Amino acid sequence: MNIGIVGNGVVGNTLADIFHKLGHPIEIGVRNLKEEFEKKSHIEYVQMEDITKDNEVIILAIPGDKLESVLLKIKNPEGKIFIDLTNPIGPDYMLLRGRYTSNGELAQEILKDSHIVKTLNTLGIEKIKHPSIREEKLTMLLAGNNKNANKKVEELLSEMGFDPMLVGDIHFSRYLEPLAMIWIEMVRKQGKSPENGLVWKR
Ligand SMILES: NC(=O)c1ccc[n+]([C@@H]2O[C@H](COP(=O)([O-])OP(=O)(O)OC[C@H]3O[C@@H](n4cnc5c(N)ncnc54)[C@H](OP(=O)(O)O)[C@@H]3O)[C@@H](O)[C@H]2O)c1
Repeated sequence: MNIGIVGNGVVGNTLADIFHKLGHPIEIGVRNLKEEFEKKSHIEYVQMEDITKDNEVIILAIPGDKLESVLLKIKNPEGKIFIDLTNPIGPDYMLLRGRYTSNGELAQEILKDSHIVKTLNTLGIEKIKHPSIREEKLTMLLAGNNKNANKKVEELLSEMGFDPMLVGDIHFSRYLEPLAMIWIEMVRKQGKSPENGLVWKR
C-alpha cells in the first residue's frame, strides 16, 4: 500500500522506516522540497501539498497545533484515509484542545470527503517502534467513522505488531488525545522509562 507521511520529524521518519521495512512504498511530504535537508534513499520526497496524489493512506505527523494550517494546504481530497496521530499540545506539554472537540474531529471537518482515523497518538515513538512488553502485544486504540478505513488502519497496526482496538467514531478522538498525556507526563516530564504501554484485556 502506498503510504504518504506529512512531516519530516522524529515520528514521520520512524514510521517511514517501519513501513518501508514492512514493504510499503513511502513518500514524505515536506514544507519546502527545494530546501536542503537530509534525504534517505528508501523514501520519496514530495511537496506537502502533493502528498495525496499517489498515496492511499496519509499519516499526519506534524505538530498538533499546526494541524489546521497544514490541512488547509492539503485541501480536501476524496476517499483518502488519513491517520491522525497528532496531539494538540502547546508549550510545556499543555493540552490546547479537548473535552468538546479534538484534532481528529477538526481534521474530519476540514477533510470532509476523506476518512480520518485517530490512532498512534497515545504512545511514545520508542514503544511505537517496539509495541510489545515481555512478548505481550500492546493495545493500540483507534477511532474513525468509516468502516473500511478503520479496517485498513487496523491491518496496518497489526502489521506493526500492535493489538488494535476500535473504540468508536471519530468523536472518540476527544478522549484518545487526553489519554496521550499519561504517557507524556510519566516519560517526557517525570523521566520514567519509556518501556510501558496499555494492554486492554478482552
Ligand atoms: N514524539 C512522540 O513520541 C510522539 C508519539 C505519538 C504522537 N506524536 C505526535 O506526532 C506529531 C509529530 O511529532 P514529532 O515528535 O515527530 O515532531 P517533530 O520532530 O517536531 O516533527 C514535526 C514535523 O512537522 C513539520 N512541521 C513543523 N511545523 C510545521 C508547520 N508549521 N507546517 C507544516 N509542517 C510543519 C516539520 O517537518 P518539515 O520541516 O519537513 O516540514 C517537522 O519535522 C505531534 O503531533 C506529536 O504530538 C508524537
